[in-house]
Amino acid sequence: MGSSNSTPAVSDELKAEIAPLEAKKVLTVADPGEFAGKEGKHVPTIAVAESKATIVVPHGMEEAHWIQYIWAKNESGALIGAVKLSHTDSPTLTVDVPAGTKAITAFESCNLHGVWKTDDTPIA
Ligand SMILES: [Fe+2]
Repeated sequence: MGSSNSTPAVSDELKAEIAPLEAKKVLTVADPGEFAGKEGKHVPTIAVAESKATIVVPHGMEEAHWIQYIWAKNESGALIGAVKLSHTDSPTLTVDVPAGTKAITAFESCNLHGVWKTDDTPIA
């Protein structure tokens, strides 16, 4: 896989893998919980250009410690993109932003440090 993953449709299988991750505590900059101090490498960044949002997790990718999933939701909580990663992939996801989308929230799951999300990011 290259440095960018484009996933216009999310499979039911992938949705089923992500759902239980979100059922756990989702960590944020404001509430990093037991992993305080680790937010810098775990909270995704979102860059929007034209109709695409590029989500990057500034985290290393190693065989024993990697970003397992990245996904994004719109302001209504609908999934707009997701990817499952191996440690040999880059921790990034590019999603097509549907017309009318007002905001994006990006999530990721680290195999050692839990699930993190961004604040809601408005779409200009
Ligand atoms: Fe981590």
